[in-house]
Amino acid sequence: MNLEELRRMYDFTNRTVVLTGGAGVLGGEMACALAGCNANVVIMDRDPALADRLKVRLESSVGKAMIVYGDVLKKGTLIQAAESVLEEFGSIDALINTAGGNNPKATVGPDQSFFDLPEEGLRLASELNLLGTMIPCQVFGKYMAERKAGVILNVSSMAAYRPLTRVVAYSAAKAAVSNFTQWLAVYMAQEWSPNIRVNAIAPGFFLTDQNRFLLTEKETGALTARGKKILDHTPMGRFGQPDDLLATVLWLLSPASAFVTGIVVPVDGGFSAYGGV
Ligand SMILES: NC(=O)c1ccc[n+]([C@@H]2O[C@H](COP(=O)([O-])OP(=O)(O)OC[C@H]3O[C@@H](n4cnc5c(N)ncnc54)[C@H](OP(=O)(O)O)[C@@H]3O)[C@@H](O)[C@H]2O)c1
Repeated sequence: MNLEELRRMYDFTNRTVVLTGGAGVLGGEMACALAGCNANVVIMDRDPALADRLKVRLESSVGKAMIVYGDVLKKGTLIQAAESVLEEFGSIDALINTAGGNNPKATVGPDQSFFDLPEEGLRLASELNLLGTMIPCQVFGKYMAERKAGVILNVSSMAAYRPLTRVVAYSAAKAAVSNFTQWLAVYMAQEWSPNIRVNAIAPGFFLTDQNRFLLTEKETGALTARGKKILDHTPMGRFGQPDDLLATVLWLLSPASAFVTGIVVPVDGGFSAYGGV
């Protein structure tokens, strides 16, 4: 191995990375890190205005950034977004599927048993996480298949390994995202090109807007019983910070992982390794 080549692996100059849900907490950090490593970054979200808070950081990076509308459940909007990205940057080298999350209407609680969960809530959580990953893979993956090169990174969850209590549809959908990651990795390598890789990360527990209501009390910010249980079950004894994901993301997008496809990497402070005793 040429050492110079090894040092250059995290230089993403002239590589374009599209992030669905890129205006979100985790996606936004990934976008800023990639722009800092010289990538052309495309923040795609159903509400692009949410990315305004990132503009100053993105503008001070070497890499260029583009913010574009795209709803992962509306294929037409993704096709349109892909066309604008190609017009602006000329290629699409990587896709990160960060759009996803739980929905309060699909969450079992004191006032809502599993039997009472509205179908609408179950649909929202199932579709956003599973179809919201599959549909962007169809649109951007097709382009990669035609070019015979590309990298896809999905976002799974601890809920995929063993379901988490209360979040029923989210757990099932994230298990499906891990399964789909393996499926697509094999399909792309066998049917299209071994130069198309598909992997996922499985973040542990990161305190963000979508899970704050489950992990902390609204009034005081103190840990809920569930939040405390999670920390007790995380050997490192803390929630993750978005920064904790970045090096794993860069590795899976870079040529440093050229022989890695179809894996799901936990970034979880040891949560998935701990049996509780
Ligand atoms: N936070 C954690 O502890 C944790 C742990 C494991 C896995 N994850 C996963 O990590 C990913 C990012 O999570 P996060 O915590 O960064 O959540 P987040 O801040 O809510 O980010 C998700 C982003 O996706 C957007 N989005 C929602 N529906 C969309 C759609 N139909 N089309 C396009 N964009 C859409 C959201 O916009 P709106 O604000 O408008 O909804 C938001 O900007 C999710 O897949 C989540 O399941 C998170």
